[in-house]
Amino acid sequence: MKTFNFTVKYSRTVYAVIGRDMSDMPSQFPALFSGADKLCLVTDGAAPRSLKARAAALFPPGKAEYFTFALPASEKAKTPDQAWKLCSFLFLKGFSRDSLLIAAGGGAVTDLTGFAASVYMRGINWISAPTTFLAQIDAGLGGKTAVNLRGAKNVVGTFHQPALAVCDTAFLDSLPHAELRSGAGELVKYAMIGPGPLRRAVEKNLSKALAGDESALTTCTAACAAYKIKLVAKDERDETGLRERLNLGHTAGHAFEALAGGRMPHGEAVARGLRFALILSARTGRLPGPAFKKLDALITALRLPSPPELGRDFRKFLALVSMDKKARGAHNRFLLVNAPGRLEAAENVKMALLKKAFDGALK
Ligand SMILES: NC(=O)c1ccc[n+]([C@@H]2O[C@H](COP(=O)([O-])OP(=O)(O)OC[C@H]3O[C@@H](n4cnc5c(N)ncnc54)[C@H](O)[C@@H]3O)[C@@H](O)[C@H]2O)c1
Repeated sequence: MKTFNFTVKYSRTVYAVIGRDMSDMPSQFPALFSGADKLCLVTDGAAPRSLKARAAALFPPGKAEYFTFALPASEKAKTPDQAWKLCSFLFLKGFSRDSLLIAAGGGAVTDLTGFAASVYMRGINWISAPTTFLAQIDAGLGGKTAVNLRGAKNVVGTFHQPALAVCDTAFLDSLPHAELRSGAGELVKYAMIGPGPLRRAVEKNLSKALAGDESALTTCTAACAAYKIKLVAKDERDETGLRERLNLGHTAGHAFEALAGGRMPHGEAVARGLRFALILSARTGRLPGPAFKKLDALITALRLPSPPELGRDFRKFLALVSMDKKARGAHNRFLLVNAPGRLEAAENVKMALLKKAFDGALK
């Protein structure tokens, strides 16, 4: 087993452990666990039983009083109502600022649990244990927490770093192919935003990762997680523009996800959002043809299923992208690609171009 350990100074010290078949975190991080009076393991109620067993092995209760809380599946977990339900549960069970939340699940679970941890008692400690490929390379790291509002993604949220992030790729053994492919959508993003070595690692491992190859998944997880952890350390609160690059493809991607009404997994929507950004980049003369082809081929390699019919409403798409948090008063704002690893924001892009990119992304 190979593990990668990171200690990063954000607004607080964050430990991250990435590897396979890890065990017993309390013995590795005694200061974090020995002081906790109560633990609550938060999971996705629809995830396989083996996930809960694996999480219990990683986080044995020790002397702390131990509770579990099951959330509804996927985006149904990311609602204000679920956040209050979790907070109420913690309150009724007597959780204090000495208690600890452990989120073991996909990005929906880590986003919601991190959000609850940030508001309960004005902030208690939490641990992120992402169990999907997407959450191990992205959602479970970096301290952005969120719930959705009226169908719009991540409208209410906070920055609240987990004290510890544990990416154990053994969780991925039970992940269905559609979720691996969804994670690979974010993986392809890293090939477009990251430096040369990260891009080459993704290019080399993409098809093996899609086939569930253990070693490829661990290599990709470690490379992407390391990049994200370091990037976030330089711009924890998304203020200087550095962290923004992680949002490539997300403005259009979030709109595709919302339009599909829960029928398009997040990473798949991001992959379509990346294609949208590549088409706009090429059509506005930023991205030369050969570079476009090379990057677009990574999206083709994902073999995305056809998008649902109800997701093709261009008017609604325009309304959604204009409401994006990042639009900053413009009609629309998208990150575009000048070259692999070189991004540039474009604002108020013309309707005809948007329509071409929209049609191309949903082909
Ligand atoms: N906070 C951030 O920085 C950030 C970054 C990217 C994405 N996100 C958010 O992450 C969410 C998407 O995360 P996701 O793709 O992990 O989806 P998800 O949490 O919805 O999980 C997807 C599915 O996988 C199942 N699952 C989870 N672990 C499993 C396992 N080990 N074996 C079998 N099944 C398992 C779940 O039950 C669920 O059905 C979105 O809400 C997105 O907005 C957040």
